[in-house]
Formats: sequence, C-alpha cells, structure tokens
Amino acid sequence: MNILILGSGGREHALAWAVKQNPKCDRLIVAPGNAGIAQIAECASLDIENGGAVVGFAEENAIDFVIIGPEAPLANGVADRLREAGVLVFGPSEGAARLEASKSFTKEVCAAANAPTAGYGHFTDAEAAKAHIRENGAPIVVKADGLAAGKGVIVAMDEATALAAIDDMFGGAFGGAGAEVVIEEFMEGEEASLFVLVDGNQVLSIGSAQDHKRVGEGDTGPNTGGMGAYSPAPVLSAEIEAKAMEEIVKPTMAEMARRGTPYQGVLYVGLMIKDGQPRLVEYNVRFGDPECQVLMMRLGAQALDLMQATAEGKLSEARINWADDHAVTVVMAANGYPGSYEKGTEIKGLNTQPEDSMNMVFHAGTKADGAAILANGGRVLNVTARGNNLREARDRAYAMVDSIDWPGGFFRRDIGWRAL
Ligand code: AMP
Ligand code: GLY
Repeated sequence: MNILILGSGGREHALAWAVKQNPKCDRLIVAPGNAGIAQIAECASLDIENGGAVVGFAEENAIDFVIIGPEAPLANGVADRLREAGVLVFGPSEGAARLEASKSFTKEVCAAANAPTAGYGHFTDAEAAKAHIRENGAPIVVKADGLAAGKGVIVAMDEATALAAIDDMFGGAFGGAGAEVVIEEFMEGEEASLFVLVDGNQVLSIGSAQDHKRVGEGDTGPNTGGMGAYSPAPVLSAEIEAKAMEEIVKPTMAEMARRGTPYQGVLYVGLMIKDGQPRLVEYNVRFGDPECQVLMMRLGAQALDLMQATAEGKLSEARINWADDHAVTVVMAANGYPGSYEKGTEIKGLNTQPEDSMNMVFHAGTKADGAAILANGGRVLNVTARGNNLREARDRAYAMVDSIDWPGGFFRRDIGWRAL
C-alpha cells in the first residue's frame, strides 16, 4: 500500500512512525513533513489545503490511502476531493468537519441529539452578546465561532473580561472566525479527551488522554497548543467512557448521518467530568497534538489497520489489541513560547536516543542543516515513552529529555502530575 500523510507536526511524525511499522505499508510519503519525519519517510512539498493539488499528487504517485492530520485541509474539503477522485481517505468531509470549524453548528447538533453540554447563546451582534453576558454574569466562556488556531476561547472569570472579549472578537481580533460568537455556561470539573474512530456508522474508542494546555508547571501561565500528554486518562473510567459514548458520541454521530453528512475519521471528544457525569466541551475532527503521540505509541502498527477500516466503512470488523500500557509525551518548546521565540538554535544529543516500540522522540518543529537538527517552531520535540504504568512511562520520557542538549528550549517537569 502506498500511503500519503498530510501535515508537518509531531502528530504526523507519530502517525508516520506507527504506519511505517505495518508490513502493509510499501511506500510512505508525508507532505510537507519535517526533519524527524524525513528520517523514516519521504517528504514532499505540497499545498495540502488545495484539494486539486492533493488529488493530482496522489494520482501521480499511485497513492492508495491518504491520512489527513490537521483540521485546515479537512475544513477546506480536501477529503471530499479525494473521495470524488476515488482515493481512499481517512478524514471527514467538509460538511462533517463543521463539528470543529463552527462552534455554533456543534451546539446545534448537540441540542438536536440531546447530548449533555454547556448551555449557550449564539450571537452575530456585539450588543446582544454583551446583554447576554450582563444577564448571566461571570464566570462565563466566550468563543469565536470559527477556526482560530486554538486561540478563540476566553474563559472569563469576571464580567469585564467577557465584555472585552466581545469587543476583541467583533473588532476582528480573530478575523472571520470572530464575526459570530458562542457564549457558554462555565462548566466546572476535570477535563479529559476521548478518541473515537467513526466510519459513518460504527464508532470505536481508541483510548483516552489528558493534555497539559498551560505553559507553566502546576498548570499555570498562558495557554499553549499542549505541553505534554498522557494516555490513558484515569478520570475517564470505563463507566464514564461508556456514558460519553452512549449519551454524547453515538447520538451526535447519528444526527450527523441523519443530516446527510455522516462522519468518517477520528473524532476528538473533549469532555468535562463532574460527579461522574461527562459533558461535551468541544469536538475536534482530527487527532489532538500531542495526544496523538501517546495514542500512536500505545497502538503501534495496528493504527494503520484501524484507520483503513474506518475509511472503508468496516469498523464493525475491527478489533484492538490492547497492551494494558501507559504512555507519556513531554513537549520541548523553544524559549519564549507561546510568545515570540527564536528559530534556528541547534539541538544536540538526538542521535543517541533509543528509538523503539517503547521510546521515541517525535519531531514537531525541526529543520535539518547538514547533519545538525535545528529548532524551527514553537513546539519542537515530543519526547514519548511507554511503560507498564504511568510512572514508568514518565520516568523513561524524562530520562530521554534529560539527555537532550538544547539550551534554546524548555519543558515542563510535571507532565502527568494530576494522575500521579
Ligand atoms: P475549546 O477550544 O472549546 O476546547 O476551549 C478551550 C478550553 O477552554 C477547553 O479545553 C476548556 O479548558 C475551556 N473551556 C471551553 N469551554 C468551556 C466551558 N463551557 N466551561 C469551562 N471551560 C471551558
Ligand atoms: N492538544 C490540543 C489539541 O490538539 O487540540
């Protein structure tokens, strides 16, 4: 099988690493990829948000299966163009990707499916939005309706912050994404994510994870794309997972099918759990990054079979071979991230790292310069390990982190603390 993965982050490195181990995989191309991916696959430059270009590339390279990593190509209909051209693809249609691309759409689908989630209002007018905030008071959550690269959510602990967020959003701080806002009831509880494969009809859980969104230890400081993650998430017990599947995932997926936009791909189910009851915080229509890294570490080569079964509509036949293991990923980021940071600092000690089914350094933002590896982004490395328990996985990951010589970067020392 010739496989094309779209994307360039740690998530795509982890996908490539898992896929590559499966004997079914003959040729593996990642577009555009990064310096770490280039060590295990061919990298190609390609405009991955352009459906025509992706179809052309797939045809020229006799690609049998395309796996789409990030949300932007999905929201742009790249999966639709591939399906129209008869190429097998893992990833939802543009219509189904609205579950991430529009927060008001998701709230509407949840309401129709009777799925537990925060109460909300949807506004296209700043004054009406402010009146709603004054009426309900703080804490309250203000969200830009569209894709805002993870930055369009303001959890306001006081009314003034919420009102200022409205001014920012309608003032264009998030471009087109902020022309409409959703205002939600503030939910208390513990957050965890569930990852589910959906083949249009059947659903299959592939595990839970928790990430650390804040930059600082003890979950403090500004939000980031994620400073580390671990899987499974102990707060998502089998009982709560079953509840989330029955009350949230299955009814919303049935509603999507009823609307003529059945969902196919991986669904990232962001949950808030309180008193044994899960409620939906958000859906994403892709793997989380860095949550994908821990899920791939645990699934290994069978990830390809599972994604293929999803794309072929054969999930009812799929089985997961679980190892009863745990995985941890520690993000190493460039000094200054998530603010401004320097690119091009050299990372040493990478070629002495163990790379096997228990240990892997996934590259998120790197560039090769001859034999040297240079930082080329905010989140740069995802140091990932597996173990019989969380502590063992964590200790292994930090042993690798500690032997990487990169003065230009930093990391959190406490990944997994909530679960430990
Ligand atoms: P989202 O992009 O919708 O996941 O929001 C980003 C983060 O904001 C979530 O991971 C939560 O930590 C927080 N958040 C979003 N919605 C709510 C809510 N209704 N109540 C409390 N926290 C929320
Ligand atoms: N780590 C959070 C996300 O991928 O959305």
